[in-house]
Amino acid sequence: MAANIVMSGMRPTGPLHLGHWEGALKNWVELQKSRRCFFSIVDWHALTSEYEHPDPIRQNVNEILYDWLSAGIDPNRSVIYLQSAVKEIAELFLLLAMITPLGWLERVPTFKEQQQQLRDRDLNTFGFLGYPLLQTVDIIIMKADAVPVGEDQVYHIELAREIARRFNAFYGFCFPEPQALLTPIPRLPGVDGRKMSKSYDNAIYLSDTPETVREKIRPMVTDVRRKRRSDPGIPEDCPVFALQQAYSTAAEVGAAAQGCRAAAIGCLDCKDIVIRNINAFLDPFRERRRIYEKSDVAAILAAGNEAARTQARLTLDEVRRLVKI
Ligand code: TRP
Ligand code: SF4
Repeated sequence: MAANIVMSGMRPTGPLHLGHWEGALKNWVELQKSRRCFFSIVDWHALTSEYEHPDPIRQNVNEILYDWLSAGIDPNRSVIYLQSAVKEIAELFLLLAMITPLGWLERVPTFKEQQQQLRDRDLNTFGFLGYPLLQTVDIIIMKADAVPVGEDQVYHIELAREIARRFNAFYGFCFPEPQALLTPIPRLPGVDGRKMSKSYDNAIYLSDTPETVREKIRPMVTDVRRKRRSDPGIPEDCPVFALQQAYSTAAEVGAAAQGCRAAAIGCLDCKDIVIRNINAFLDPFRERRRIYEKSDVAAILAAGNEAARTQARLTLDEVRRLVKI
């Protein structure tokens, strides 16, 4: 079944990096060409775990908005909006809470996992338990039938399907059952060789300047076999090579691999190619960011909020009629 309406979201928890591009934004930019897309900055979701320190959320909303726009999410094609600007989401959350069995939420694997991982805060809250229900509302309030997400979100989408089905069974048809459009989790390493992640402080950000990209990549640890330039290496054991594979041409990748194995190139030569290509890749992002910095992004978000509210209101009219409240 071809998807008609696409919905996805991100929590505003910090600047976006190349991993976010590979794992989500690339796909979103493609989808907006052929589908009606709703992309939400989910600040209420951020609050479920950051409720003790909410101050950065507002700043992060602005940052993620620029990151999306710079990545090519086009406000003329996609509806870009702030979750908390659509109060109908809160109303539908409340109504669906009535029909959501506690066991369905308690069984969501991320619930216990996150509670164990984020031990510095108390996530034994009603709001945190309700996280996947809130995500369900994000999706079905827009009547989305497709949700581009990573594999870690599969269970959440499954829950959305079950809740949509349950609502339809109780009150009459209202919600299509959304499908996950799986984006493979990117195998992109950060500059320390571990998975690229803000929490490891190893990420290349979409907003990094050319100089910052250079400063991050030049000192990267390469294959330990290459102590001297005359020592041959194994490219597959080098995180610079993984970046090379992601951002260089096939010819450049081939030459780097060969030069590495034969000790014919130095690691700095190899890195310089990666630096050049990542910067060339990010140049259009920088260009769009410059343009948006001179325009009224608050108005862009306000227009998106209005479009999202319009759809949410239509859904809620229907829901209230069906639930008879
Ligand atoms: N839970 C998602 C994540 O952590 C974010 C999210 C919130 C979302 N609402 C959504 C994703 C709706 C897709 C659709 O990545
Ligand atoms: Fe890594 Fe390139 Fe050095 Fe080989 S030459 S170890 S691939 S940086």
